[in-house]
Amino acid sequence: MTSTLTGRHLVLALSGGIAGYKTAELVRLLTQAGASVQVMMTEAACQFITPVTMQALSGRPVILDQWDASAPNNMHHINASREADAMLVAPASADMIAKLALGRADDIVSLTALARPLERCPLIVAPAMNRELWAHPATQRNVGQLRADGAQVWGPAAGSQACGEVGDGRMLEAADLAERLEAWFTPQRLAGVRVLITAGPTFEPIDPVRGITNRSSGKMGFAIAQAAQRAGADVTLVAGPVALATPAGVRRIDVQSAQEMLAAVLPLAPEHRVFIATAAVADWRPATIAEHKIKKDGSGAAPALAFAENPDILATVAALPGAPYCVGFAAESEKLLEHAQAKRLRKGIPLIVANLGPATFGRDDNALLLIDADGARELPRAPKTDLARHLIDELAQRLHRA
Ligand code: C5P
Repeated sequence: MTSTLTGRHLVLALSGGIAGYKTAELVRLLTQAGASVQVMMTEAACQFITPVTMQALSGRPVILDQWDASAPNNMHHINASREADAMLVAPASADMIAKLALGRADDIVSLTALARPLERCPLIVAPAMNRELWAHPATQRNVGQLRADGAQVWGPAAGSQACGEVGDGRMLEAADLAERLEAWFTPQRLAGVRVLITAGPTFEPIDPVRGITNRSSGKMGFAIAQAAQRAGADVTLVAGPVALATPAGVRRIDVQSAQEMLAAVLPLAPEHRVFIATAAVADWRPATIAEHKIKKDGSGAAPALAFAENPDILATVAALPGAPYCVGFAAESEKLLEHAQAKRLRKGIPLIVANLGPATFGRDDNALLLIDADGARELPRAPKTDLARHLIDELAQRLHRA
C-alpha cells in the first residue's frame, strides 16, 4: 500500500512528557506508511522513554544534543532541518513551547526548529501537559505566538491525564497524528467541497430477527470517504450495516434498509456538491415485515415471501433539481464497459465507476474502470485506499472542468 507519507522524511522531536510512549507508536505508524523518521530527544524526553526504543523503531541513531560530533560537519541541526519535509515536536512540553515561542536554541530540538528553512520545513507541535500548565496564560500566550509565527498546533485533546486530573492537555493519539500528517501532505484538491457518500450493504428485514443483505463490506466507500476528507472535503458518509471504523473527521450516519438510506440521503443531497453512491443497495425488500418471528408450523411448508422494489437512491438524487455531481458504481460480472455505460445513461449521471463484482466484494484491493461521456479510463488493480485516492483526483479534475 502506498500513502502520501511514502518517501517523506520527517524530523520527530520529543521533549519531556509521559506521552513519549505514544510517539514510539507514531514512529512505527510513520515508517509503516513509508516515511523515514529522524528522531531527536531532549534530555527531559530521555527521562520518559529511551533513545534505544526510538532508534530501534526508526532504524536511525537518535540525535540527543547539539554537541553530538557524529555528523561529519558537526551540524545536526542544519542537516536534519534541511532534509526534512516537516518537523513534528511530540510531545511538546510547556517548557519547549515557551522556548519555541521565544526563539531560544539551547537544546537540539529548539535549535533545529529555529534553524529550519521556514518555507520548506513546516513546524508542527503536539502539546502534552497537565491541564493547569496548558491553561496558564503564559502557555496560551506562547501557543498564540507559535501560531502567529506559522506553526501548526495539533491538539491537545481533553480527557483523563496521567496525573489523575481530567481536562485539556492530553497529546493526540499516535493514529490521530499519523492521520493528520497524511492529510497534511495530501494536495487539497477538494478543499471545502461538500461530499455525500453511501457505503456498505443494506439490510432488508423479514421479521424481527431475519433479513436479506449482501456481501458488500463497505471498504471502497469508506476508503473514498477517507481520501476525500484528506483532500480537504467536508464528508458525510451514510453507511449500511458494516463493521468498519469511521475515518477521522468524517460525519457518519448509520442506516439499515434502502428506504432508511434514501430518507437519510434525500434531505442532505441538495446541500452537497458531490454525491458518490458506493452502497450495494438491495434491489428488493420483503413486501411486508412480520411483526413477530416467523415460526415453523410443523407442516414442512416454507413461508412464501413477496417482494417490493426498492427506490433507486442514486437515480432519485440525480433527478433532483440542482442535483449534486453524481458518481455511481456498477458491479458487473461481464461486458463491464457496455453494461456500465448503459447504466450511467439510464441513471442520468456524469460518471460511473465499473468493477467486476466477484473480484471486489470483501477484498482489500480492486480494479476500476471510470466511464463518463468522454470514454473510459482504467485504474489497474491496487489497494482500495490507493484507488480511492486516484478516484478523488479524477473527480477533482472533472469538478474543475464542470
Ligand atoms: O442498478 P445498480 O444497482 O447496478 O446500480 C448501482 C449504482 O446505483 C451504485 O452506485 C449504487 O450505489 C446505486 N444504487 C442506488 N440505489 C439502488 C440501487 C443502486 O443508489 N436502489
